Amino acid sequence: MKFDGKTCWVTGAASGMGKTVSLRLALEGARLILSDRDAEGLKETAREIEQTGGSARIEPIDMTDTEAIFATARRVIEEGEIIYGLYQFAGISQRSLVAETPIENDRKIMEVNFFGVVALTKAVLPHMIENGEGQLVGTSSLVGKFGFPYRSAYSSSKHALHGFFESLVAENSKYNIRVSMLIPGRVQTNISKFALKKDGKEHGQMDPGQASGITAEKAAKIIIRGLKKEKREIWVGGKEMLMLHIRRFFPRLYFYLATRIKPM
Ligand SMILES: NC(=O)c1ccc[n+]([C@@H]2O[C@H](COP(=O)([O-])OP(=O)(O)OC[C@H]3O[C@@H](n4cnc5c(N)ncnc54)[C@H](OP(=O)(O)O)[C@@H]3O)[C@@H](O)[C@H]2O)c1
Repeated sequence: MKFDGKTCWVTGAASGMGKTVSLRLALEGARLILSDRDAEGLKETAREIEQTGGSARIEPIDMTDTEAIFATARRVIEEGEIIYGLYQFAGISQRSLVAETPIENDRKIMEVNFFGVVALTKAVLPHMIENGEGQLVGTSSLVGKFGFPYRSAYSSSKHALHGFFESLVAENSKYNIRVSMLIPGRVQTNISKFALKKDGKEHGQMDPGQASGITAEKAAKIIIRGLKKEKREIWVGGKEMLMLHIRRFFPRLYFYLATRIKPM
């Protein structure tokens, strides 16, 4: 498939993979709708897109605000945008043990990573069905495929996305709705800096493992290639992706390794 002339809505577009994928989609000829809670960051992404001759519209959204999500989508559609693709990157991570994590943190992570995604998808899906086509993208994680220490809520939110999107595509592939799930491993972005600690504060640093990951630019290249092929699942990372095979074919080895992860 080609993005040329299509309108693509990207969340989390102020930084990291949401930003680099937006820039690449624009280079492919797409018109962008950019969302994030960081309005200043969105202006910068839009400026960079316009510098390369692309076109972008900014729609700041807090993904925990369900009413705002539906109101924004309604307005965007009423104003005549024909949304071809919805690429959802907005998310927050976690650095705390199950036993010490207050339930409020679990809820907050689910609100952003799961309910926010579900709300925006529901707000746009009927429009896509009416248009006769649509590409939906959910951003999971390696830990959306298996559990991992210090990520209980984060891992749960990403697992939940798989159930949601898999059901959605089973119901809607007859309307030409395609779904791709992104499975990033380690990508050098701000995700670990803003991860929630047990006290609700930010982790504030990039973990060494993540710092050794691929760049957000390289991730975008892999993602766009996978999206053009409309792959059901797009793996985005380096050698850490081996864990997916270990989990699948050698589950006991995976459990052994998982219990030896050091606190971070
Ligand atoms: N980087 C990795 O290694 C990795 C691995 C697996 C999965 N992922 C997933 O990839 C996606 C993109 O993350 P990234 O790595 O590119 O990190 P990132 O640079 O931190 O991007 C995440 C974006 O989401 C925005 N966001 C957070 N909470 C929001 C909310 N309530 N409403 C609206 N926007 C919100 C952030 O805005 P602020 O800047 O204002 O916080 C930020 O711009 C996430 O879903 C993440 O879980 C990343």
